[in-house]
Amino acid sequence: MRETVRGWVGEARHIAVLTGAGMSAESGVPTFRDAQTGLWAQFNPQDLATETAFRAHPQRVWDWYAHRREMIAGLQPNAGHVALAAFTVRHPGRLTLITQNVDGLHQRAGSDDTLALHGNLAEDRWLDMPRACCQAETIETGHPPRCPVCGNLRRPAVVWFGEHLPAAALEAAELAARNCELMLVVGTSGEVYPAAGLALTAHQCGARVVIVNPEATPLDGVAELCLREPAALCLPWLLA
Ligand code: APR
Repeated sequence: MRETVRGWVGEARHIAVLTGAGMSAESGVPTFRDAQTGLWAQFNPQDLATETAFRAHPQRVWDWYAHRREMIAGLQPNAGHVALAAFTVRHPGRLTLITQNVDGLHQRAGSDDTLALHGNLAEDRWLDMPRACCQAETIETGHPPRCPVCGNLRRPAVVWFGEHLPAAALEAAELAARNCELMLVVGTSGEVYPAAGLALTAHQCGARVVIVNPEATPLDGVAELCLREPAALCLPWLLA
């Protein structure tokens, strides 16, 4: 099966790759729920990853993200992230990388053009539309930076529950899904939309869809082949 997929990788003029949390499993990134340890065990993700939660308890939510940022900074991209980045260097313009992950590991591996559908944990942005005064922000270590004039806060630049995905990234991802000849769906449970819908779009537009995931997913039905393997083992081989 692997040989077949490797042949498809060799033939496809345009490849789209959609990744999820399983992509970073071999790097040691805990899933959202695994990350609820210690102090955080008492909080539900819905109480930490919403705008309402941030407005109510900015320090608590900021601390939670600071904790995750710190943890991820100590981890490294795995062989799968590296194989994807190396492929784009060898074949410029042939592969569009779309991720639901906010860990920044694709970017750290060298995939600068990654379409980060759910944002990036390492970045932040203004909570409310910035005014002229918001240019000057004060940074007090350990606190969410705040505009000293109007009080506007910086917040993590990730997509929280109930929020829209970044429009430009989503549009580019949809275009890639419509135009690709092969889509690799790697390490995602395929349950969160609109990201999961990209695999359906690719299938409807005539692309071959291949799943790389040790477990079954709801997207398996549109896949030509499912490789039940970990991403960090499978991708270096497929993309060699
Ligand atoms: N290699 C490939 N896949 C793996 C591996 C691995 N080593 N380990 C686990 N998986 C698979 C699991 O079988 C599962 O199907 O990765 C998938 C992870 O699923 P989720 O935790 O649901 O992650 P994801 O699909 O990325 O979630 C989508 O939901 O929580 C929100 O916004 C968050 O971006 C996230 C979105």
